[in-house]
Amino acid sequence: MNVLGIETSCDETAASVVGAAGVLSDVVHTQEIHAEYGGVVPELAGRAHADKIVSTMAAAMARAGIEKPDAVAATAGPGLIGAVLVGLCFAKSLAAGWGVPFIGVNHLEGHLLSATLEPDGPDFPFLSLVVSGGHTSLYLASGLGDYEVLAETVDDAAGEAFDKVARMMGLGYPGGPAVDKMAAQGDPWAVKLPRPQPKVRPPKTPSGHVGTRALDMSFSGLKTAVRAHLESAQPASPEDVCASFQQAVVDVLTNRVARAMDITGVNRVTIAGGVAANTQLRAAMGTLGAELCLPPRHRCTDNAAMIAHAGRLRLLNGERHGLDRGARAQWVPGAV
Ligand code: KG4
Ligand code: ZN
Repeated sequence: MNVLGIETSCDETAASVVGAAGVLSDVVHTQEIHAEYGGVVPELAGRAHADKIVSTMAAAMARAGIEKPDAVAATAGPGLIGAVLVGLCFAKSLAAGWGVPFIGVNHLEGHLLSATLEPDGPDFPFLSLVVSGGHTSLYLASGLGDYEVLAETVDDAAGEAFDKVARMMGLGYPGGPAVDKMAAQGDPWAVKLPRPQPKVRPPKTPSGHVGTRALDMSFSGLKTAVRAHLESAQPASPEDVCASFQQAVVDVLTNRVARAMDITGVNRVTIAGGVAANTQLRAAMGTLGAELCLPPRHRCTDNAAMIAHAGRLRLLNGERHGLDRGARAQWVPGAV
């Protein structure tokens, strides 16, 4: 079954065809217009998706060498609602025109399952750390649609912290790649920064392995500590600040994964989302003794191959959605 996937939840307009043999095409157009504003402007994102969606889809179909897919999948949330709507409505129109099934995909489920697209991808159960610009959550994936949140951030997402620190330092948007590059020249122990531990919250799910949500994360205090250091009398070099900040984020993330491995007894681990492209995080994950699957960097940042893949798995499972399926700004992966 060849599935055309469409992704427009944030600032990437993407289309991809995934079939039984794997990824047949994977086209991503990153919107550059947001750089001058220092962050994604939702209204501009929606307009830019509308400009590019047709040519991006046509390129994905041409590269895959097919004229009509067997089904269409599109991100239906969570994300910027005006942006999601562009891809979702376009995908539903394509499905209606071609007379093929349609399925709306949860963007986070796309990230969560992206490692299973790799030839050496993990079988269920596995732990998946999804670290992006809008989300930071650690899931126990026990089966398709069976995901338990073991930990999440109580404030900023890890990618958001990278973007905010980069902005304070005048490194531009998106901040993650710029901090990653600068950190490579710095000393990660030059600036003493906190590894904040939020207050333990009551469990969200009574069946939770972790129960007390003791693994939750917080990045907003870390960001404030970086600001205080930058405003101090003798701040360290930008390279040292970037390396120290990045080390603190990586320490928190790897600590949670290690503790979740202990608690659940699950040794298979994967990471996904834009921050999973980070050099230091990828290296540190390799030290945990996990059976690790690191998707290539271009499959960590937003792409449509992960949407086509997740949609394809759901379709093969007998699921499909009506063309009245709406967009959702909030949507927990696994929820119907
Ligand atoms: O998954 P993604 O492409 O979009 C969302 O769904 O949010 O993630 C984007 C986030 C941005 O915050 C960006 O700064 C961050 O991922 N990012 C990185 C790196 N590459 C992208 N953060 C740290 N290191 C990187 N190399
Ligand atoms: Zn994403």
